[in-house]
Amino acid sequence: MHNAALAELGLAGEWSYEAIEVAPPDFEALVRRMAAEGFVGANVTVPHKVAALELAGEVGEEARAIGAANTLSFSPGGIVAENTDARGFLDALPAPPAGKRALVLGAGGSARAVAWALVTEGAQVSIWNRTPEKAERLAGELGASALPSSDERLASADFDLIVNTTTVGMGGSGEGAPGLKSLPIRADSLGETHQLVDLAYGPDETELASAASGHGATVVDGLEVLVHQGAASLRIWTGQDPPIETMRRAARAK
Ligand code: ATR
Repeated sequence: MHNAALAELGLAGEWSYEAIEVAPPDFEALVRRMAAEGFVGANVTVPHKVAALELAGEVGEEARAIGAANTLSFSPGGIVAENTDARGFLDALPAPPAGKRALVLGAGGSARAVAWALVTEGAQVSIWNRTPEKAERLAGELGASALPSSDERLASADFDLIVNTTTVGMGGSGEGAPGLKSLPIRADSLGETHQLVDLAYGPDETELASAASGHGATVVDGLEVLVHQGAASLRIWTGQDPPIETMRRAARAK
């Protein structure tokens, strides 16, 4: 999707976007070599997001608040670390979240970026996690509330926006994959008044997304969020507005 965007921006000849795999002990040396060799920047993913933040000479506000960076830019002035996870998530939402009652499922790295974005935009954020201590810690740090992890289901009427950041749904719905029963809200209780963002994505629509949209909820999938995160990184590097529809088409063609 990045290369499709670069082509449409007229940069295909000079710029290209490629995947490089690196083990944690080699990460810093690779990044410094890339900066010295004239790369414009890099996206960074798990497990390097904290290391990316730590090696940068300058850190953006979002990256500092979230404690992780997914975007590095190289310039003669040094290495700048930024985070487009929060921006990409917000840009993918069908409507601004201010004033909405949001339920974040999960308390890992993705939940942190999502919950920070929602709190910063003025939503009322509740965090649920399988391991409740992690939800409590995250909620305490960000000014959200933590929900207890009990067997009782949450009432969908208490929320306008539900964001699944857990890995439930990531492995498809086959045998052995954690099913919707692992989550505290029933997908079939969501309806027209709900927006669901399911960060889990795979070749097929997740069970959660499909059940929720079948009941009339507005659903945003993980690929759509990924497109907007990618676009936000490209905007930082190129200074131009990336063609979202082209990126979306390329992402979904795979
Ligand atoms: P990411 O970087 O994508 O956020 P992560 O930091 O590994 O990934 O977080 C994964 C999240 O999925 C966690 O909230 C995890 O819950 P725990 O903190 O209890 O481990 C959640 N998760 C993983 N498997 C799950 C399952 N079977 N049921 C419910 N939640 C699950």
